[in-house]
Amino acid sequence: MWPKTLLVLTLLVQNISSNPVANAFDNFHSSCRALASHLIIPHGNVSSSSLVTAGTTLRFPNSDQTCTRPSQAVSVDLCRVELTVATSNRSSMSMEAWLPAHWTGRFLSTGNGGLGGCIQYEDIEYGASLGFATVGTNNGHDGMTGESFLDNADVVEDFASRALHTGVVIGKKISASFYGAEHSKSYYIGCSTGGRQGMKEAQTFPDDFDGIVAGAPAIAFNNLTSWSSRFLPLTGLPGSPTFIPLDMWPIIAQDILDQCDDNDGVSDGIMESPDLCDYNPEALSCGVSENATNCLTTTQLQTLKSIYSPLLDANGDLVYPRLQPGAELLGVPQTYFTGQPFGASDWFKYAIFNDPNWDPMSLVPADYVLSSTMNRFNIETWEGDLSAFRRKGGKLLHYHGLADPVISSENSPRYYQHVSDTMGLSSAELDEFTVTLLSLGWLIVEEGQVLRILGTVCEALSRWIHKRIC
Ligand SMILES: *[C@@H]1O[C@H](CO)[C@@H](O)[C@H](O)[C@H]1NC(C)=O
Ligand SMILES: *[C@@H]1O[C@H](CO)[C@@H](O)[C@H](O)[C@H]1NC(C)=O
Ligand SMILES: *[C@@H]1O[C@H](CO)[C@@H](O)[C@H](O)[C@H]1NC(C)=O
Ligand SMILES: *[C@@H]1O[C@H](CO)[C@@H](O)[C@H](O)[C@H]1NC(C)=O
Repeated sequence: MWPKTLLVLTLLVQNISSNPVANAFDNFHSSCRALASHLIIPHGNVSSSSLVTAGTTLRFPNSDQTCTRPSQAVSVDLCRVELTVATSNRSSMSMEAWLPAHWTGRFLSTGNGGLGGCIQYEDIEYGASLGFATVGTNNGHDGMTGESFLDNADVVEDFASRALHTGVVIGKKISASFYGAEHSKSYYIGCSTGGRQGMKEAQTFPDDFDGIVAGAPAIAFNNLTSWSSRFLPLTGLPGSPTFIPLDMWPIIAQDILDQCDDNDGVSDGIMESPDLCDYNPEALSCGVSENATNCLTTTQLQTLKSIYSPLLDANGDLVYPRLQPGAELLGVPQTYFTGQPFGASDWFKYAIFNDPNWDPMSLVPADYVLSSTMNRFNIETWEGDLSAFRRKGGKLLHYHGLADPVISSENSPRYYQHVSDTMGLSSAELDEFTVTLLSLGWLIVEEGQVLRILGTVCEALSRWIHKRIC
């Protein structure tokens, strides 16, 4: 009887181990489950490491409401690691590492948006779906507002740069520990605030990444915030003499196009070069009939002229370039000209004045200088010297949509010039390690149908570019 039983057992065992796919998956599953207890993160607590299978929809019932992030579909098998890390004795960040079963050996960090405070799960999913060990953090606070900056410089420091960098250092360790091998290349992808974070990395943490995709970067951050916060005092509240009613904006958009369409040499209803457009709104003047409709009063014309002029301080120095004309139908009025405070004015409220009662209507030009001078934790992100990043062979891809509804695309060429001047490099020399793209908006056309316009859609555009270079 003995030998027979043994034979059956042996066959069974052989049968199981001859299914390498199932075996690999079981190994992946058990090493994922075990990971949380193996990981030793200084000042960190790993709350879980769990298998997520392709097709799962993750839910985030505890996510901050202002993040509007109820769920995320996951398209590949991966090991999801969740942890919190203390960044000082009064600040911490939460982060996640998504480690795909089919790892390409590469590492990717994602960034954040606005004043957030929100893990960008769709970007982490995107990276993991392409085989990157991918990480993302909450940038040191939860939610999209600046309230957490109040009375806590450490939360400000996390937001300026520390949370992302810390997440990268820890994320690489988690990846190496899980796969048992170092990553081969490391990349970054982010847009808007995420673009600023990418630039900060190139400027200050040159060893973190081999390649950085920085979209529509919120660099010259203090000054950008002055520029975007000053639209409210400029337009005033709805109904005030300076205010331009929202239903005037399609008329303004048409007037701009009529004036500037030809600047690029082709009259085709598309303004390819907004930088060549020196818009003069006089044609929209109501003239003497100040109560006529579909026209602008002298006071409203002044508002409009200021919107399309560079922002200067009291000394006449440039604070921030003008809004590029051409995005009037793509969200600019809804972002800036509604008579509501813009979200980023929280920067002034909590990080500059540290006063929850500060009134966004009270912003004055001296505040631009104050904010730029305080430059908390060097959040300006305007270092022109990228030589350390260049030396280590880093590559920087910087793009900006020419119809950006939040961050003027005229700021990006200004940074390019600043790097060129600071490093004393010609365009050809800069081309060796950087690419700067100004894109009007790429039409993704399939079978004659326009599927998407990408130039204004930050995240979608950065993925589109990333997919083609990384
Ligand atoms: C980690 O856990 C310990 C014990 O529960 C707790 O005191 C500490 O605040 C936690 N740290 C972080 C960063 O969450
Ligand atoms: C927190 O850390 C700072 C220095 O980083 C120190 O000055 C302070 O005393 C610490 N506070 C507490 C409560 O440990
Ligand atoms: C427009 O202005 C004229 C003269 O200034 C005035 O007589 C008229 O009532 C006004 N119309 C409206 C609709 O306010
Ligand atoms: C920001 O604004 C200040 C104050 O006007 C100015 O001195 C500084 O040059 C500006 N910085 C950048 C990066 O534009």
